[in-house]
Amino acid sequence: MACVNVFFFSLDPPVRRLAVLERCLSKDELVRADRFHFPQHRRRFVAARGQLRELLGREIGLSPESLRFCYGPHGKPGVEQTEEISFNLSHSNEAALLATCRGAALGVDLEWIERRVEYLLVARRFFSEQEVRKLDHCPPEHQREAFFACWTRKEAYIKALGEGLSRPLDSFAVGMLRGEPATLLWSRFPGEPERWSLHNLVLPGSYRGALAVEGQGWEVVIREIDPRGSPPYTTGAPRS
Ligand SMILES: CC(C)(COP(=O)(O)OP(=O)(O)OC[C@H]1O[C@@H](n2cnc3c(N)ncnc32)[C@H](O)[C@@H]1OP(=O)(O)O)[C@@H](O)C(=O)NCCC(=O)NCCS
Repeated sequence: MACVNVFFFSLDPPVRRLAVLERCLSKDELVRADRFHFPQHRRRFVAARGQLRELLGREIGLSPESLRFCYGPHGKPGVEQTEEISFNLSHSNEAALLATCRGAALGVDLEWIERRVEYLLVARRFFSEQEVRKLDHCPPEHQREAFFACWTRKEAYIKALGEGLSRPLDSFAVGMLRGEPATLLWSRFPGEPERWSLHNLVLPGSYRGALAVEGQGWEVVIREIDPRGSPPYTTGAPRS
């Protein structure tokens, strides 16, 4: 069965590890890092880019520093040296998620659910009518989970398409309630629900994540990366 590899990693690694990661960044990434005003933001950017390079390099068989990124019309990054491997990255708070696979488009989203969000206001602004109705009828104690399930699945799908917000967020609906599968239930664009599979990603602590990948029948394997840089280990089987 074809496999999607998902890596969950910290953006606050030990200082010595951060120095190793910084050494694999390109000149333009270092320039971008230096534009951050707050040191914490700089560190997290370096940790994200460095680990992205290490993990992708390992998958492709290239050294981290030799990877060159190219960008789609809406900024979705790819690897210049190969079209075979697809990847997508997401970061939230002090962690990041990277998903990779061969021969299919994919998108991933990570959210830290402790942050303050006015669920109903945001939902009314961005979600489809069907999703807003479901959230309105959800018991208050389940609303936060339902909101983030919806948000991460919608965002993962938008990121898989790579079109940014040119695809309206209310032009499709996803499964979001407890026990409801993470599917693309409906889209204003014909053929989309059959074309994509959505997956809920079970992650540590207050992190929630979702993956959208072209086609069906994927095995999704989640690995948590040791912040000290040891080989990845599997944290658990995904549930959808
Ligand atoms: C990039 C985008 C698609 C997601 O941004 P985000 O949620 O702020 O950020 P994430 O951490 O999930 O993803 C950022 C990463 O996605 C990748 N990315 C950038 N542009 C992308 C695109 N068009 N498509 C897919 N991935 C993209 C990059 O690797 C980027 O990492 P970098 O910032 O270190 O370069 C953003 O353009 C966007 O459209 N956000 C929509 C936000 C929103 O209103 N959501 C409503 C909730 S339903």
